[in-house]
Amino acid sequence: MVPTQKPLIVGNWKMQPASRARAVSLVKDVRAKIGKKDDVSVVVAPPFVYLDAVRTALGKNTSIALGVQDVSSEKPGAHTGQIALAMVRDFGVQYSIVGHSERRALGETDAMVNHKLQAIVKEGNIGIVCVGEKERDASGQYLTFLEGQIRSALQGIPKSRLDRIVVAYEPLWAIGTGVVATPADVHEIKLFIVRILSEMYGRTYAQRVRILYGGSVNAKNAQGLFTEGVVNGFLVGGASLKAEEFIGIIQAVR
Ligand code: PGA
Repeated sequence: MVPTQKPLIVGNWKMQPASRARAVSLVKDVRAKIGKKDDVSVVVAPPFVYLDAVRTALGKNTSIALGVQDVSSEKPGAHTGQIALAMVRDFGVQYSIVGHSERRALGETDAMVNHKLQAIVKEGNIGIVCVGEKERDASGQYLTFLEGQIRSALQGIPKSRLDRIVVAYEPLWAIGTGVVATPADVHEIKLFIVRILSEMYGRTYAQRVRILYGGSVNAKNAQGLFTEGVVNGFLVGGASLKAEEFIGIIQAVR
């Protein structure tokens, strides 16, 4: 039996806001408006240098979890500029985003994404792996591309660890553009992802993987995408930097 999964809303702050004071004020606003209900799993993924301040601002009695936008697959050692999984775990971070298209654009390969994801689930963290096509073509080549990204990312991940995997479908044409996928598009891709996971792991285990949509999600379009797209939640960029908007998205999935 698959336990009932709460909706999951992840705020990917990217390289924003520009100061720690603003990061703290943003998370305080979100916290204040979210109330005590914990019927939705909410995650914020600030830049590394704000993690400590954000954690302090959240305080102890919070249902908001911390995430990171990237993490190294290497063990602590001589890796200039990198942050090890052991460090983020030790800090109390539970979620790690991997393979965001903005990182892939900087050279992150499918193999690197796979290594990171393997390390994440092994350490007991939850990995949010981003997949998505650059553009759509009438012949459906983008589906082959997506399938390749998913199969490669999950290579070597045992079915016993699938509850630590979240797949975020983020078509590049929808990220930060204001052009959102239609709920029907989202539903179609969700079913497509479930089919691939079922082929890889069997239907029962496949259901343990949560599937999110990301790309220009806001408080207005969230409800339609959630109910008609039949996804487990959203990975939110721009709208996660405005407390009202982010809360609106959380309310929409309640
Ligand atoms: P967006 O970004 O919500 O600003 O489109 C989503 C993302 O990149 O995760």
